[in-house]
Amino acid sequence: MLKLLILKFVLSLVVLTNCLSNDEQAAEKLVEKICDELKTKMYETNVASWNHATNLTNDNEKKKEDAELKMAKYNKKAALELLKFDYKNFKNETLKRLMSKMTMIGDNILDEKDFRELSSAISQMQSNFAKFKIGCFKNKNELLEFEPDIIEILLKSRDPDELEYYWTNFYNLAGTPSVKNFYKYVELRNKAAVKNKFKDGSEMWLSNYEDENFEKNIEEILEQIKPFYMQLHAFVRHKLHEHYGPEHVDLKKPIPMHLLGNMWGQLWEIDDLIVPYQNASKIEFTEELVKQGYTAKKMFETAEEFFKSINLSPMPELFWKNSVIEKPKDREIVCHASAWDFTINDDVRIKMCTKVTMGDFVIIHHEMGHIEYHLQYKNLPLPFRNGANEGFHEAVGDTIALSVSSPKHLNRIGLLKSKGDEGQESNINQLMSNALRKLALLPFAYVMDKFRYEVFRGTIEPENANCHFWRLREKHGGIAPASVRGNHDFDITAKYHVSADVEYMRYFVANIIQFQFHKAACIKAGEYESDSKNPTKSLNNCDIYQSKEAGNALKEMLSLGASKHWSDVLETLTGERKLDASAFLEYFQPLQDWLIKTNEELGVNIGWELSDKIDCPNLYE
Ligand SMILES: *[C@@H]1O[C@H](CO)[C@@H](O)[C@H](O)[C@H]1NC(C)=O
Ligand SMILES: *[C@@H]1O[C@H](CO)[C@@H](O)[C@H](O)[C@H]1NC(C)=O
Ligand SMILES: *[C@@H]1O[C@H](CO)[C@@H](O)[C@H](O)[C@H]1NC(C)=O
Ligand SMILES: *[C@@H]1O[C@H](CO)[C@@H](O)[C@H](O)[C@H]1NC(C)=O
Ligand SMILES: [Zn+2]
Repeated sequence: MLKLLILKFVLSLVVLTNCLSNDEQAAEKLVEKICDELKTKMYETNVASWNHATNLTNDNEKKKEDAELKMAKYNKKAALELLKFDYKNFKNETLKRLMSKMTMIGDNILDEKDFRELSSAISQMQSNFAKFKIGCFKNKNELLEFEPDIIEILLKSRDPDELEYYWTNFYNLAGTPSVKNFYKYVELRNKAAVKNKFKDGSEMWLSNYEDENFEKNIEEILEQIKPFYMQLHAFVRHKLHEHYGPEHVDLKKPIPMHLLGNMWGQLWEIDDLIVPYQNASKIEFTEELVKQGYTAKKMFETAEEFFKSINLSPMPELFWKNSVIEKPKDREIVCHASAWDFTINDDVRIKMCTKVTMGDFVIIHHEMGHIEYHLQYKNLPLPFRNGANEGFHEAVGDTIALSVSSPKHLNRIGLLKSKGDEGQESNINQLMSNALRKLALLPFAYVMDKFRYEVFRGTIEPENANCHFWRLREKHGGIAPASVRGNHDFDITAKYHVSADVEYMRYFVANIIQFQFHKAACIKAGEYESDSKNPTKSLNNCDIYQSKEAGNALKEMLSLGASKHWSDVLETLTGERKLDASAFLEYFQPLQDWLIKTNEELGVNIGWELSDKIDCPNLYE
């Protein structure tokens, strides 16, 4: 009897020490305390990162890595404290969600040595990307920087040899030197993922979307837009063939990437060659911006004015004080545009090497959309101060830019080279301009992460990685490299977001979901009628400028941050719960119809054979 009692006592002790606390109030207090501490710590880390990104010295790189390590240690310690609670069984749903976010600590779970190695691999890829220079095509002794010099040449030059020269040198310098760091990064990211109880790095990324079928959903959307993509691809190849001739563009092969106005063929910024009605109004307004004396500052102010007109927040004082909106002459910086939230005192900033172009005018709206999101959710607890998912964050500014780039709005602000006709021809021109950017991006964005998912999963082996990369790009986009590439090259790191460890599917999501946002906002603004014969009320000529109703509806959604599942957040604005390409396709419907008809009339070949610029067998039948 006594023996039994003792055994019972011992048993209950064991249970007690293993037992998680279910004291919700204690947990709530702890969460609050950690969030308070996090704010200051995050501020310090952000400052160190900012100082590095806006002044690339070894000293600043070291300081940034130290700050990140300190932050990681704190996050890990906090997560361990929180994990003492049985929070998954708490009654308070908000608290549960907060704690589940705070205990998903990603890379922070690594030990110090691994964490430092991972940070360092990423910093080195980033620095490699920021620092290389290429000799000028006409005078190799004159060294050019990628941003803004070479980006601008890609946009403007129509000399295929010059374009190929820059393309090949760029990939050799921006991609291949980072291969070792990339694989170090993959190894350590996977290690962190496993410690977080994910299968690998891909699963950790996908967890942000809180949906088991997310990858499948994306693939369905890719299929949904494919017929439209094939038509656009065929038309563009046909026009490039007309311009550059058969020695540069084969009518049956994938499009050579360097002829698309963009180093990655992700946006096809070649309106001058493609937009069909050169005599009707065109959307490409770079020339107008320059003619009207726009500066970086004025472009930013114009964007801000739009946000204010729909009752969203003006940019705070510190924004204007701290942002870097032009490339400084006295130091090297990471030029790639980005928006920053320092989490206290309305300290928000944009870093951008602005050029006076239409592309950058759109990017300013994009980045300011991030800032606006930061400002709308600033009163939430820190772990909720984020996009409902990463795609939401990328879509806000783009949604505004859809209104800004409507003929109606460009006329309003005097940027449309209007020929007085607002008929079918200028409508097709405008949709073509937008499709060259929005539609072209989808297969590209998909491949950026499909490739990295498979590398994380170990299904793409390093010896064969570059072939996989190009064959995927070919399969889904019908795009080929400018010169012959094989497995001795390593080209994926030549994309900034890969070198900087930025998940990319968010841009795919953003490009679809912004049309869902746009449609809902247009309905609120009274600017949209479904099946309308009235061209001023169509989705592609809707401008929500000055509509407080549209702005307030957006505001309501943005102010939820990440406090709820993204389906719930989407529903508040659109009434829909799923990512869906219907609004995207509706917006572009007149162009798709036009392309089908025109391609048929011109006898344009649709689809593509394998490229001979990829030095390996076909891997994707
Ligand atoms: C850049 O950082 C270095 C420290 O590495 C510092 O001495 C220098 O003043 C900084 N330059 C600017 C313009 O902030
Ligand atoms: C639930 O938790 C949140 C976050 O800690 C707190 O703000 C809120 O007051 C709690 N709700 C209830 C009903 O206790
Ligand atoms: C080529 O560039 C270098 C460096 O900018 C310059 O010194 C040289 O004069 C240039 N040569 C020609 C022929 O323009
Ligand atoms: C465009 O206008 C020019 C000059 O008015 C004319 O010569 C040309 O034929 C027009 N082109 C088209 C495609 O309508
Ligand atoms: Zn962005």
